[in-house]
Amino acid sequence: MSEWTDIIDAVSAHVTLLKELGEKSIALRPDTLAGFDEPTVTDANDAAAASTPADSTKQATAQSASPAPAPVIGGKVEPKVDPNATREQNLASLAQQIDACACCVLRSNRTKSVPGQGNPNSPDVMFIGEAPGADEDQQGLAFVGRAGQFLTKMIEAMGYWREDVFIANICKCRPPGNRTPMPNEMMTCFPFLREQIKIIQPKTIVLLGNVAAKALLDTQTGITRLQGQWTSYEGIPVMPTYHPSYVIRFGEGTDDSYQVKRKVWHALLAVLERLGKKPPARKKKEGN
Ligand code: URA
Repeated sequence: MSEWTDIIDAVSAHVTLLKELGEKSIALRPDTLAGFDEPTVTDANDAAAASTPADSTKQATAQSASPAPAPVIGGKVEPKVDPNATREQNLASLAQQIDACACCVLRSNRTKSVPGQGNPNSPDVMFIGEAPGADEDQQGLAFVGRAGQFLTKMIEAMGYWREDVFIANICKCRPPGNRTPMPNEMMTCFPFLREQIKIIQPKTIVLLGNVAAKALLDTQTGITRLQGQWTSYEGIPVMPTYHPSYVIRFGEGTDDSYQVKRKVWHALLAVLERLGKKPPARKKKEGN
């Protein structure tokens, strides 16, 4: 009974969202409501004619294997977490619920969902960005493109490997054309991140860029003012700083690049200091 109510809530939230975004009609495909068992193809004959035999096998497998999406209660996603499960199990279950979520339009454009990855056991740092880009969308992993390479440099400069920290985003699906996620998309997706943070219990959080800072801290203050200033989320110390994409935008060797990198590095040093750690000694240049 409650499962039906959840399904109706989910469909109703999804349709309302599409309407708000100006959609005049809805073309339902089997994969736009993944996880629901009812067929959702408006014209089964058209769909059958359009798909190749290989396609239909793949879809059938994906559909029968797809887990239930997170319940939607009162129009809000309420991810299921099992208090008796391990952190790894709960994160894996959240990743499945994220993958099955069809509560906003980002679901229909993405290739893979990007739940986030890394050390789930109270890592020193959890990095939170905006939303997956093209590379992340292909691989299903957060920060693996150009911005991700710069994030790796930041992490390693602090003395960690990527596996030591947890890396996630506010939105778990790629916005088309890498546009900024809409407020309703961030709000819809946020409960997944909220639960991830509760499970992982990072010692500190580094927010990467404007979108992440505004969404997690629920503020209108821009990153220029927030960057480098300690704040907190649910009792966890939070350090907002610039997004790696912003840092690399200035190119190498320019004054602006130097200034922005310096500010980011100071923010990261403040994080290390709070953790009682020091950055690893840098190798001296030869001849010095
Ligand atoms: N930018 C983000 O904010 N997140 C990613 O995962 C990649 C690029």
